[in-house]
Amino acid sequence: MAATGSCAHAHWSSRLAFIMAAVGSSVGLGNFWRFPFEAGRNGGGAFVLTYLICILLMALPLLLAEFAIGRRGQQSAVGSYHQVAVLSNRSPGWRAIGWVGMLVVFFILAYYSVIAGWIIAYIPIIVTGKLTGASAEDVGQIFANLLANPWILTAGHAVFMATTTFIVARGIKGGIELAVKILMPAFSLMLLLITIASAIIGDFAAGASFLLTPDFSKITPLVVLSATGQAFFTLSLTGALMVTYGAYSTGDVNLPRAGLTVAMSDTLVAVIAGLAIFPIVFGFGLDASEGPGLLFVTLPVAFSQMGGGGLVFGLVFFLLALFAALTTSISLLEVATSWAEEKAGGQRAKVATILGLLAFLIGMLSVLGQNVWSDIHPLGALKMFEGQGILDTFNTLLGTIMLPLMGVFVAIFAGWVASKEIFSEELNFSNPRLFSIWRFLIRFVCPPALLYILYLAISGAPVAG
Ligand code: PHE
Repeated sequence: MAATGSCAHAHWSSRLAFIMAAVGSSVGLGNFWRFPFEAGRNGGGAFVLTYLICILLMALPLLLAEFAIGRRGQQSAVGSYHQVAVLSNRSPGWRAIGWVGMLVVFFILAYYSVIAGWIIAYIPIIVTGKLTGASAEDVGQIFANLLANPWILTAGHAVFMATTTFIVARGIKGGIELAVKILMPAFSLMLLLITIASAIIGDFAAGASFLLTPDFSKITPLVVLSATGQAFFTLSLTGALMVTYGAYSTGDVNLPRAGLTVAMSDTLVAVIAGLAIFPIVFGFGLDASEGPGLLFVTLPVAFSQMGGGGLVFGLVFFLLALFAALTTSISLLEVATSWAEEKAGGQRAKVATILGLLAFLIGMLSVLGQNVWSDIHPLGALKMFEGQGILDTFNTLLGTIMLPLMGVFVAIFAGWVASKEIFSEELNFSNPRLFSIWRFLIRFVCPPALLYILYLAISGAPVAG
């Protein structure tokens, strides 16, 4: 089970630290920002049910595969695929999966930071009491004004990316571990409190039924693909990220147990976030299919209804949400940093800074897409991207299309290319039947199901009508 090859990278300080960091990467904007708005525009319960099935049958097995590849490879994503391929007597060219995965992660980081910047920009709005007593309409207007201002958005994006870069530059132990251990539990508690508040002020029955009662007539190929993409996004499955984190883990970590912990806590946070948001949507006549702004026009309504306490509550919540986003963005930047560090023979601070700057510049496209370039709908001619601006297009292209596609390649590599022994040793299931189930899902379920879903959704209704 031990590492083969030389190990240039640091390791997590303990098993718990590894699990917490992986949870920290998976729990983020994907849970409380992306999950509710994707569920909202894809029919609610039908989406959620498909999402849960995808987590169990595809995302969890792939998470274990990524962990195993990383721990055996003991290098960056690119290096780990290379290493595992060579150990399996296969072409080192399979490292291309690591390459593409790394690029996908990098582009996700660019727009992820822009959304986190919206959260930062909300903080002065909350502190100055603008939300106190505001109606749902007022909140909508405040949010629209925010998006219309490229300077504020750039400032939020810059502060967030700079903080991410600073922590990654310092290395995995000093920054990431500490932040995750304290802040994640605090965040979950706040989310639960907000859910209770929203159940009281909103229409809980309508919200819960929208989210949890599947209407099977709403299941279309696009809904299935969106749910699959969300399952991958929320568990940080890009073909590269969990490989990188797995490489920092030591041989004594039980990977299946770690994977299960990550998947369960992540799913729980997403469902709770949905239960916090949809009662407000229905109680205040908001639009469930509003898209990326959903979080920002619903929760502030809850805060505004809480009187003076709402100010403090809203502030603490947004701060914690920011930390949850930070423990994710750190992992996003870490993927390319880990690779660049390998190439440059160290110099972590320098490579992290260059990469952070580059991601900031790419993110500027998404900032300007909200205002100066708001008329641009890059792929608007395709049904799937209808009405989507630059940021939304990045989100759909990467999260909904690229991640399931990466899943196909990771599954083929882990199930058909790399040697079976590597995975049976790394995963080391207590019950051998579990390994057979894992291998069956990776070989016979993931690649065909993912390809079929992608095919149906992309060929289904290609042109916007
Ligand atoms: N899982 C993260 C979240 O839910 C997002 C993410 C996607 C992180 C892909 C890494 C890779 O916020």
